[in-house]
Amino acid sequence: MENYQITQWCHYFIREQVHEGDFCIDATCGNGHDTLLLCELVGDSGLVAGFDIQKEAVEKTETRLAETGMNGRGRIFCCGHEKMKEQLLQHEDCRKMLEQTADGYGKVSCIVFNFGYLPGGLHELATKAETSVVALEESLTILKRGGIISLCIYSGKDSGFEERDALLEYLKNLDRKKYLVIMSSYYNRPNHPPIPGLIIRI
Ligand SMILES: C[S@@+](CC[C@H](N)C(=O)[O-])C[C@H]1O[C@@H](n2cnc3c(N)ncnc32)[C@H](O)[C@@H]1O
Repeated sequence: MENYQITQWCHYFIREQVHEGDFCIDATCGNGHDTLLLCELVGDSGLVAGFDIQKEAVEKTETRLAETGMNGRGRIFCCGHEKMKEQLLQHEDCRKMLEQTADGYGKVSCIVFNFGYLPGGLHELATKAETSVVALEESLTILKRGGIISLCIYSGKDSGFEERDALLEYLKNLDRKKYLVIMSSYYNRPNHPPIPGLIIRI
């Protein structure tokens, strides 16, 4: 691993998971780093849908994709991730992300949640407990067998603890026959370090 930031830790697993032709979702585009990685991995035959509530984040992500020649692989929506299914349904090429297999699995290979606020942006526009949990619920219904949801959870300072606690409580109670939840920690770091995690659809 090149460095030990939480996003790098998650990228390690995302790189393992995502292949050419996959459908993926960046549920919190922000500056577009995760969206770009997903677009690189899915290739020309795959598709990435991205969500953010801030126009600034959507523009930054679209610019990042355009500058790297990846814009054909991404559809970026200025919309809350809690409405991702409703939004995907409205777009012909994204609709297939909602299709289910006969045994009830979805088609999406990887969904990335990097919670919190846009670096350099307004802290009050950070993700919120209530909508984050709804978005996770929606995400689980469209994940393929063996698909993953990658999580970066922040707390303390401006982030507080409400979202972290709600997410951890939700994850703890997920049906263990359907999902494997692996939470990690920066165990010897003080002051509420970020929490990386993975949900795997089994
Ligand atoms: C930590 S940043 C994401 C960083 C990003 N993944 C990157 O690579 O730069 C969190 C983002 O979540 C966005 N956000 C807040 N509430 C949201 C919601 N309900 N739906 C989607 N995005 C939301 C914020 O606007 C912010 O840009």
